[in-house]
Amino acid sequence: MSEPKNYFAPGRVNLIGEHLDYNGGLVLPTAINLGVKLSYGKRNDEKIVFRSATHPFTTSINVSDELEYSAYQDWANYPIGIIHHLKKEGISLNGSELTYESNLPEGAGLSSSAAVEVVTAFALLGQSQSQINKVWLANFCKEVENNFIGVKCGIMDQYAVALGKKDYALLIDCNELTHDYIPVELNDYRLVIMNTQKPRSLIHSKYNERKTECEEALKKIKSAKPETENLANASPIYLDIIGDEVLRKRAKHVITENLRVKESVKALRYNDLSTFGRLMNASHASLRDDYEVSGIELDTLVEEAQKTNGCLGARMTGAGFGGCAIAILHESAIDAFTQKVSDKYKAVTGLQCQMYIAETADGVREI
Ligand code: GLA
Repeated sequence: MSEPKNYFAPGRVNLIGEHLDYNGGLVLPTAINLGVKLSYGKRNDEKIVFRSATHPFTTSINVSDELEYSAYQDWANYPIGIIHHLKKEGISLNGSELTYESNLPEGAGLSSSAAVEVVTAFALLGQSQSQINKVWLANFCKEVENNFIGVKCGIMDQYAVALGKKDYALLIDCNELTHDYIPVELNDYRLVIMNTQKPRSLIHSKYNERKTECEEALKKIKSAKPETENLANASPIYLDIIGDEVLRKRAKHVITENLRVKESVKALRYNDLSTFGRLMNASHASLRDDYEVSGIELDTLVEEAQKTNGCLGARMTGAGFGGCAIAILHESAIDAFTQKVSDKYKAVTGLQCQMYIAETADGVREI
């Protein structure tokens, strides 16, 4: 085997703009300094071996094998899905040793699966191409997640993992599939990630249910205003024609959240963290009351965080139903905050939360 090459793909947190990617809206994620490292070693045969420092399961395939999803393949379904789709694109692959190491908590809504997908595609393509179009890469990995893994996610996670940039958030227009970098200058503040550590068993069915509800709400709006392109950009004056109360609430979240992203971008451009913090709080309330994707664990963390001195704002991040919340917190308050929020969380849920101080980071790269 030749000298291994190393690659890294970050996880992400979404600062604001939740459940908007599949509604044609704006999202504002940032890549973070926790992520997945991949060591690629070329072999002189047809075999691709998958190993993980974090999972005991190891497996291998041959480049010429017909590949398909199988529960038996466990975490290796992600790289196997990438290989299957690269082959469909006509890309020829060598035998290799792929060894993964992650410091991203899994199943916590920080995009560990997108990181595995993106780092795998980036490393494998990197053996034959000197320039990789990262927007293409993000789309490609999303297709793998949708069609091989079977999760009907939007584009946000793979996009953020591929195109993140240190000190910036990525403003993605999910309708146009374009992006812009928005400076994140936290000065004496820090981005805190609070992990509920709640297992998220129903997440995929609940996620798909919200997606269908949004499609239904859009249909109703289109019946009155056919030129409406997507739900995120629909005018709030059409909310009342939706009729069904649940669908109206889902649409209200989507439409108001899109406006909050626009306000947040302005606030961040002016380095106005207090306004941004208030928008985060409003986003959480909307996800809790109208979109109904938070739950007792996320609400407890967020409400306790919001009450704590030095915290400018807090909200759940990602799909919800467990997973993580984020807060913007003054650095002098970190110790007291951690103690107070963890104690309250334990008392209410019986669970121990985990806290990370995250830094913004660059997207996928060779290291
Ligand atoms: C998950 C999905 C994303 C996005 C978020 C909610 O992370 O993978 O595509 O829909 O939920 O904003």
